[in-house]
Amino acid sequence: MREKILIVEDEFVEANHVQTILEQAGYSVSGIARSVNIALEMIEAEKPTLILLDIFLKGSLTGIHLGNTLKEKGIAFVYLSANSNRDTLEMAKATEPYGFLVKPFREKDLLVTLEIALYLHEQRSKFNASKAQTKSNPKPGATATGKDKAFDGIIGDSPIFQSLLEDVRLVAPTETSVLLLGETGTGKELIATAIHQLSRKRSGPLVKVNCAAIPATLVESILFGHEQGAFTGATQRKRGKFEQAHQGTILLDEVGEISLDMQAKLLRVLQEKEVEPLGGEEVIKVDCRVIAATNRDLEAEVASGRFRMDLYYRLTVFPILLPPLRQRPEDIPTLARHFTSQHSQKFGKPEPALAATVIAALLKYPWPGNIRELEHVIERAVLLSTGDTIREITLPKPAPAPDSPKIVLSSMEQVERDHIIDVLRQCDGRISGKGGAAELLHMNASTLNSRIKKLGIQKLRNIL
Ligand SMILES: Nc1ncnc2c1ncn2[C@@H]1O[C@H](COP(=O)(O)OP(=O)(O)OP(=O)(O)O)[C@@H](O)[C@H]1O
Ligand SMILES: [Mg+2]
Repeated sequence: MREKILIVEDEFVEANHVQTILEQAGYSVSGIARSVNIALEMIEAEKPTLILLDIFLKGSLTGIHLGNTLKEKGIAFVYLSANSNRDTLEMAKATEPYGFLVKPFREKDLLVTLEIALYLHEQRSKFNASKAQTKSNPKPGATATGKDKAFDGIIGDSPIFQSLLEDVRLVAPTETSVLLLGETGTGKELIATAIHQLSRKRSGPLVKVNCAAIPATLVESILFGHEQGAFTGATQRKRGKFEQAHQGTILLDEVGEISLDMQAKLLRVLQEKEVEPLGGEEVIKVDCRVIAATNRDLEAEVASGRFRMDLYYRLTVFPILLPPLRQRPEDIPTLARHFTSQHSQKFGKPEPALAATVIAALLKYPWPGNIRELEHVIERAVLLSTGDTIREITLPKPAPAPDSPKIVLSSMEQVERDHIIDVLRQCDGRISGKGGAAELLHMNASTLNSRIKKLGIQKLRNIL
């Protein structure tokens, strides 16, 4: 019995303990990876038979992301995690692991789980091999990766956007809270809607609340409702947004704007899954999926004491970062054509083409208002267009992008750093191998690794 096992675990003692158990039982341990990116590199180099995978690596959910990748690659893995709450289990299930061990586990549990997982893997591999032999006439459409209807009208072929949609597909069918982070106009509301449509609660309501637009004095009654006579002007009982979202989804948009006082109340609702309408005695059970969105840097808000850390952790179980448009310029032409077609239909005009010079100008502009801004620019151009081609486009003066003060480039190193980050993003932080950052940058993987260290972007790799 010399199956190779890879351990993905960021805690040194834990990892060594597991390694010792495995080696004593006669397995060969191909290594210990402390992050997802290192794990991917080791998987490529070592080709382990099975992977033992910790879910929370450095506090984030990266283990689940890796699990999803392994599922797609057909590599067997077993989760090891101290956290076995409902949310975690739902996400874990979606990635089809060969087992799940709750820490702390007994040595025997580990070995038995491992043996069963290896057996299942062997059976499945045999089955797949025989299927491959007889697949002379595959069923039409059986393997087609049909596009989700929920993604209709959502444009973006760039790898960074496609991998975001993968995350959406992964998390949507679970009950997990999702936090959408991104600058204004990047599509947070659009993605929230897609998550709802792909979820088990799709037949229920999707209730959107713009937390920034509600006056502070009304937040509580709007979110949680009020009884008749609860306050002056409360002439009748009113259901709150949470109650309205029962068996559906609630989108807490601009969640970074609510007061600390309200944050405490919101936390209670998320924990207890019940609301207490103002001026009432009874509590009302609510069952709804929570999606929160913000264009603020919530982590910084937590650090500065403006956002409760416990609420942050509740909301950020599954963060999805919407990239600014300038980070996925390859999507600009497609989006521009999409909006041209949409708005010419709306205005009842024949659809004009976009001249190459126009596309070039769009590609150069930094889009501080992201897709919303692009849409408005195109809408205006379509409205004003007279011929069959739009040859000129009015763009605002290229003001610096809002939250990238780095626009004042200080040095070549800064440029290099930004470029490497962009490329790493495209490759999900993977350095070596086909399609890895080293290949894209025409660099040797170890040279790139040392540049990454030198430029202090090692940490970034884990969050990309
Ligand atoms: N990938 C996309 N494909 C097509 N249209 C998009 C895409 N992303 C965003 N849009 C469009 O851009 C506009 C802005 O998107 P949305 O309202 O979802 O942004 P947001 O992130 O919620 O912005 P804000 O933070 O200002 O509320 C909408 O009209 C939306 O339909
Ligand atoms: Mg929005």
